[in-house]
Amino acid sequence: MDAARRVAEAMAAWPRKAFLPRRERRHAGRDGPLPIGHGQTNSQPRTVAAMLELLDVRPGDRVLDVGAGSAWTTALLAHLTGPAGRVVGVERIPEIAAVGAANLESTGMPWASLSLATPGVLGSPGDGPFDRILVSADAETLPRALVEQLLPGGVMVIPVRGWMHRVVRDPGFDRDGVADGDAHVEIHGAYRFVPLVED
Ligand SMILES: C[S@@+](CC[C@H](N)C(=O)[O-])C[C@H]1O[C@@H](n2cnc3c(N)ncnc32)[C@H](O)[C@@H]1O
Repeated sequence: MDAARRVAEAMAAWPRKAFLPRRERRHAGRDGPLPIGHGQTNSQPRTVAAMLELLDVRPGDRVLDVGAGSAWTTALLAHLTGPAGRVVGVERIPEIAAVGAANLESTGMPWASLSLATPGVLGSPGDGPFDRILVSADAETLPRALVEQLLPGGVMVIPVRGWMHRVVRDPGFDRDGVADGDAHVEIHGAYRFVPLVED
């Protein structure tokens, strides 16, 4: 099955509605971002689908979800990896992380977790390296700290200054025993996101 079909199937299995605050659920069918509190949003479904297609998650993958928010993306990723995989979600706002963790718990997919991000630490280096990294917040520059959490040949999808980046870590990056983090970058269109907080 191709990536687009696998993503469509995941989105059908885990509709966005259950991950939204109650007052927003009647808008779940709208193809736009919706508020989840604290000035943050649950992303536009068309954007989530495009990012997941670029990410091309495979069953059994180890995946990092940065900016896990409501846990909708975390649940979609967990569906795509299946129980042989592992999904690590991190969210920096404590109140959102608590709601997201409860939402994720109710999906009954224990191979996925959502935790509060450690201040000053981007991603979750202790849980890596990862086959795939999804970042749902806009970075100022491509964060080297996240590239370094990718396995050789691993893929990250991340908006940088409004442009969607698909980053593939060089499969040969450690051929000389030197992990220099070389990566190949493709740009895939313009999008708007809340900022990635990097301090
Ligand atoms: C577009 S929103 C949430 C989208 C989310 N994937 C969903 O399905 O609801 C992006 C989230 O990234 C979070 N965020 C921003 N910088 C972060 C960081 N450095 N680490 C973890 N989360 C971060 C924000 O607090 C916000 O909740």
